[in-house]
Amino acid sequence: MASCRHRSRMMLNGSMPIKRKTSKNKAKTKTHAAETTGNGAGNSHSSSNRPLLTLEISPNIAPRIAIPEFHASVPLGYVHPGSSISVTHFTLEDVDLILTEAAELEATPASRRAQRYAKRRVALLFYESSTRTRTSFELAAKSLGADTALVSSLSSSIEKGESLKDTGITLRSLGAECIILRHPNSGAPYVLAHFTGLPVLNAGDGSHEHPSQALLDLRTILAHLPASARAASKRNHLIHERTLRGVTVTIVGDILHSRVARSNALLLPRLGARVIFCGPQTLLPEYAAGIGPGVEIERNFDRALQQSNVVMMLRIQKERLAGLEIDLEDYIEQYQLHKQRMAALAPAAIVLHPGPVIRGLEITSEITDGPNSVIAEQVYHGSIIRMALLARALDAHPKRNEQSSKHR
Ligand code: CP
Repeated sequence: MASCRHRSRMMLNGSMPIKRKTSKNKAKTKTHAAETTGNGAGNSHSSSNRPLLTLEISPNIAPRIAIPEFHASVPLGYVHPGSSISVTHFTLEDVDLILTEAAELEATPASRRAQRYAKRRVALLFYESSTRTRTSFELAAKSLGADTALVSSLSSSIEKGESLKDTGITLRSLGAECIILRHPNSGAPYVLAHFTGLPVLNAGDGSHEHPSQALLDLRTILAHLPASARAASKRNHLIHERTLRGVTVTIVGDILHSRVARSNALLLPRLGARVIFCGPQTLLPEYAAGIGPGVEIERNFDRALQQSNVVMMLRIQKERLAGLEIDLEDYIEQYQLHKQRMAALAPAAIVLHPGPVIRGLEITSEITDGPNSVIAEQVYHGSIIRMALLARALDAHPKRNEQSSKHR
C-alpha cells in the first residue's frame, strides 16, 4: 500500500493524495490512479465489457453537437493513425510526406490556407510550460482555419485533481478532433490516445520524445545542406536513407533528460547522419549510445566539435535533475559553446538549440546571436512542420470527421 500511495502521489503531479478510509474508497482510489497513468485501466474496462463513456440525453434536450461515438472496443494501446507520438512510428516515406506537405502549406497563400480546416477543433493540453511548441502549434492550427482551445494544468480542473483520461474525454465531448499534449510523464500521449481514440500530437512527454522538434530540426538542417546535396536528394525522394550521409550532428549537454536528443537520435541516423552525443557522465550515461542506431559518445567537446557540421546545444533541465548535482563552473569550462571554441574548431558548422536558451551557461550570447546560429530559423520551421502534422492528424479518418462536423 505504501508503494501504491507513493505512486498515486507522483502521478497526480503535486496534487493532494486521496485519503483512503474505507475498503470501498481504496478500490476507487486504485482505479483513479490507474486511469491517471493508464496502468491496467484498459483491463478493468475490457473485463467488465462496459463502455468508457455512457451518456443519457433527454429527448427534450437537443444536443448542439453530436457526441462522437466511443466504445470500450478501442483496444489497449490503440493509437490513431493521425497521431505523432514517436518518430519511430514514422517510416521514411511518412517523413517525406510530412516534409512535402510542409513545403506545400508554406507556399499556399494565407487566405487559401485558412479555409483548409475551417472550424475544425484542435485542443492544446499542456501540463508543462512551453513557449515555442505551444505557440507554434496554436498559430499553425489557426492559420489552417481551425478553432483552438488551450487547457493548461495551472488554470483548469487538472489543478483540482482531474485525471488525464477524464480531461481527454471532456475535450473529446467538447468536439476536439485532435489533441496536442505536453506532459511531464513519459508515455502520457499513449494513455491519452487510448482513452480518447483521437489523434494525439506529442508536444514533449517527460524524457521520452519530442517528435515535432526532431522534424523541425531535420527541416532546418536540410535547408543548410549544400545545394548539390539538396538537389541530389530531390531527384529520387525529398529524403531517403542517404540524404544526410556525410553530415555529423553533435548533440551536447543534458542528454539524459532530453526528449529532443532522443527524438533526433532516433530519426537522423535513419537518414544517414552520424550522431555524436557529448557531455559529462552525470548527464550522459554510457547506455545513452543505445538510444539510436550507431550513436557515438565523445566526452571531449573540442574533439566532437572538430568533426561536426551541426552542433545542437541543450540546456541543463533543472526541473528533471532529481538530486543530481552539477558543478556549473566545471560544466561551463568543458561544455559551453563560445566564440573562441567555435572559431577554432568548427567555423562552418551551424548551431541549433531547441530552446529555451540559458545564455552564459551552455552557450554564450555571441554564439546565440552570431552568424552560425540557426536558432531563430528552427522556430520558423517549427510553425511550418506543425501545420503539416496537424493536416496529417485532421485528414485521417475523414468520414468520422465529416460526420461530427455535420452536427455543428
Ligand atoms: N523546444 C521546445 O520545446 O521549446 P518550448 O519548451 O518553449 O516549447
